[in-house]
Amino acid sequence: MKYPTTRLRRNRQSSAIREMVQEHRLHPSDFIAPVFIMEGKDQKEEISSMPGYFRYTLDVLGKELEELIEVGIQSVLLFVKVPDPKKDNEGTEALNENGLMQESVRFIKEKYPDLYVMTDVAMDPYSSYGHDGIVEDGGIVNDPSVEVLAKMAVSHAKAGADMVAPSDMMDGRIGVMRKALDEAGFEHTGIMAYSAKYASSFYGPFRDALDSAPGFGDKKTYQLNPANVEEALREVELDINEGADIVMVKPGMPYLDVVRAVKQNFNIPVSVYNVSGEYAMIKAAAEKGWLNEEEVMMESLLAFKRAGADLIATYFAKQAARLLKTM
Ligand code: PBG
Repeated sequence: MKYPTTRLRRNRQSSAIREMVQEHRLHPSDFIAPVFIMEGKDQKEEISSMPGYFRYTLDVLGKELEELIEVGIQSVLLFVKVPDPKKDNEGTEALNENGLMQESVRFIKEKYPDLYVMTDVAMDPYSSYGHDGIVEDGGIVNDPSVEVLAKMAVSHAKAGADMVAPSDMMDGRIGVMRKALDEAGFEHTGIMAYSAKYASSFYGPFRDALDSAPGFGDKKTYQLNPANVEEALREVELDINEGADIVMVKPGMPYLDVVRAVKQNFNIPVSVYNVSGEYAMIKAAAEKGWLNEEEVMMESLLAFKRAGADLIATYFAKQAARLLKTM
């Protein structure tokens, strides 16, 4: 009988050796926790398509932030839900210096100065059409939308945001935004560009959370075609040249090849967005008893690191960081 001389199983014989040769690891500082904020007082609402995930009014947000800090989360990504009467085609409310986003940033930076605050820069929560840009003749006009987005970024920076995160996919927005931030004296405010953001059906639960579903049509004239990876690399390259500090791939799990391609082609921190639909799938299967929630959660998050992600925006941030603390 012939035996193999190479036995890879030797390095898998005990948990000690498995950990010693482990190539990738998760750490709480890998995670960016998305936070949904709504108007009003003393309320916390569960998002029905995102079990265990909530929208908070600002006055009760502190407890949640303290829990995030407690488990080692360093950064939050803020989203606000805007009531219908405040929505219009130009996203006017987005530029309100006393708007919910601006107030939230001020509140958080004042009470939790060490928490790194990122803000979503996009028009859809403010748009009466639920689109990421201004609508004209049934289309989304690029350059006027970019003007609004740049002003929005400056307004978030003024409120104290550490980094702005444009998620709109308009052409040229990073360059215009960088210039606007610099001219306003915010040269230290970073930009995390949603560079490779796909026109994905995995965003459904998020649009429930913010009541931001497009009122007509879809987002295929600005978000990427899920079939394309070369085009994603062109987007990333443009955003880097225009001044992005971090580039993002979104969604996450079905796009690990894109994460890998971006990491291999560019020398810049890469983040990945483990989106609402991915969260909902795991939660739903776990609820049915079909998957082990914690194991599948950790395996998915680790897969992002293996693919090359430096940072992971995920609704599992708190749960995963808490679990890491006990491991
Ligand atoms: C919109 C925005 C979306 C998400 C983040 N920012 C939805 C969209 O493009 O329609 C999705 C996040 C998620 O699904 O978790 N600017």
